[in-house]
Parts: sequence; structure tokens; C-alpha cells
Amino acid sequence: FPEPRCGLTQPSDFASSLRPRAQQSHKGSFGDTVLVGGAAGMAGALVLASRAALLCGSGRVIAAFAGPPPAYDPLHPEVMCRDGSHIDFGAAIKGALVLGPGLGTTPSARDLLGRALASEAAMLVDADGLNLLSAHDDLTAAVVSRATPAVLTPHPLEAARLLKTEVGRVQADRLAAARTLASRFRCIAVLKGSGTVIADPDGEAFINPTGNPALATGGSGDVLSGITGALLAQGWPPRDAALGGVWIHGRAADELAEAGTGPVGLAAGELIPAARRILNQL
Ligand code: APR
Ligand code: MG
Repeated sequence: FPEPRCGLTQPSDFASSLRPRAQQSHKGSFGDTVLVGGAAGMAGALVLASRAALLCGSGRVIAAFAGPPPAYDPLHPEVMCRDGSHIDFGAAIKGALVLGPGLGTTPSARDLLGRALASEAAMLVDADGLNLLSAHDDLTAAVVSRATPAVLTPHPLEAARLLKTEVGRVQADRLAAARTLASRFRCIAVLKGSGTVIADPDGEAFINPTGNPALATGGSGDVLSGITGALLAQGWPPRDAALGGVWIHGRAADELAEAGTGPVGLAAGELIPAARRILNQL
């Protein structure tokens, strides 16, 4: 058999999902992004992801908190802040789910994730969402059996937990680790870190050339989840959303570093308006 293809991501790899907005469009045309996470003490992770989903074009953004929800986000009151236990995931969500930023791994977080995973909406799982998958076979089964693949965005340690191996083995062959994740979880696997690898269940893989150590700061992964979730909500196929989200996120960091807002001291939230500009210019 020929080796499945592996190349460096270029915008042409996701360009077919970049469509001009129709004059007759409305907020329903661009999908809801429902983000689930934000346990007590980790609300900021969900807030960052929600802001990224908003500025990257989701029609509406709903932040569903595992802990006490704030009344609203003062920087972006457009985001609807809800108590996660009140969300009905059985109702068809027209858009996408982002599961995990700051979710925590308590029994109630596990229950919330289990309810959310039953949805047929497009889906991205990150952070503690992934840690819960690693610990619970029934949650893994819900991901594996999906009709349209979920996007999973582990950093190397989260990937090691998913693969029940050590982080050193993941890093020793990142391409193989991403491909194994994609086939085992029947997902689009995004193995983060310098040279993020994106793999699909057929073995096709990409290495992302954008990004720099400015991204080595708390919350940058949450921003990636929100960007990618917004692309899913706007109807991008999971593969394109993963390729595009990772490329845009890295490019935002590159442009900011070029302008002196990094590589030292970039705050993850600063990536968000830069990502919006890049998406609008593609
Ligand atoms: N070069 C390029 N990209 C980088 C680099 C680098 N040197 N360092 C980090 N990145 C990128 C990664 O590829 C990824 O997109 O920055 C992002 C970091 O994401 P995470 O590791 O998930 O970091 P963070 O957002 O802080 O995670 C928040 O969630 O996943 C948990 O354990 C994690 O508690 C942490 C929380
Ligand atoms: Mg993270």
C-alpha cells in the first residue's frame, strides 16, 4: 500500500470552506457555538474559548458553565452565559459544541460531558473533556460511534493519556501518535505543540507550519478550541475546521510576534482579534 499523504498545511487545503457571506444571511446562517467547561476556578478557559468563537464568526455563542456562571462577560456581553446543567443537548443544536475548556473532572463534569456527547452536532473535544474520555470507556464509545467525526485537540500529555502511553513516546513519533489517535477514536486528531499534526481516520496527515513559542502561554489552547468551534458552527467539515483553525491560530501568533507583541509576553486573549483579521483576509 502507498503511504497515506502527509504534507504541510497551506490555506489551499481548507480554501473550499472559505465562502463569502451571502447578502441575505442572518445569524442563523452562521450557527450556534455551545461551549461547555468553566468549572469553579477555571472559568477563564471557557471565557477565552467563547470570545474566540464570537470573533471568528459564530452566529451566536452560548457558554455553558460547569461551575457558577457569571451574569455576563463584561468584554463580550454578546456571549450568553448559562448554567451547564440547564442546557438541553437533546434539542438539535444548529452549529457546534466545544467540550472541555476548564471543565474539570468531577462526577458532575463527567455527567455534563456525557449528556453533551450524545448530541449529533459537530463537535470538538479539548482539555478536561479529553481527560474524561481517557478515564471512561462509555464516553470514548460515544466519540467513536459518531456519524461525523469529532475533532480532538490534545496536547502531548493529553494524547499520552488517550493512548495509555507515556508522553515521551508520543513526542518520539508525533505523526504516528496523531494517526493512531485518529483511527482509534475515529476522529480528526489535532496533536498540539510546535509542528501541530492533524490526522484523519484514513491516515491522511498534515503538519502545521504556523505558530511560534509566543503560544507557550496559558489559555492559547482554549483560544484554538474557540476558533475551530466557530468554523465548525459555520458548517466547515471537521477536517477543514481543524486545518484552518490551527493554521489561523498559529498565523495570528506569528503576526503578533512580528509586530513585537511576542514572543515574550503574549496574552492568549490577544490572539483573538488577530485571528479574526486573518480569517477575514483569507
Ligand atoms: N510553537 C508552536 N505552537 C505552540 C508552541 C510552540 N513552541 N507552544 C505551544 N503552542 C501551541 C499549541 O500547539 C497549542 O495550540 O499553543 C497551544 C497550547 O495549548 P494547550 O497546551 O492546550 O495550553 P492551554 O491553553 O494553556 O491549556 C489550558 O487546559 O489542556 C489543559 O492542561 C492544560 O491546564 C491546561 C489548560
Ligand atoms: Mg489546553
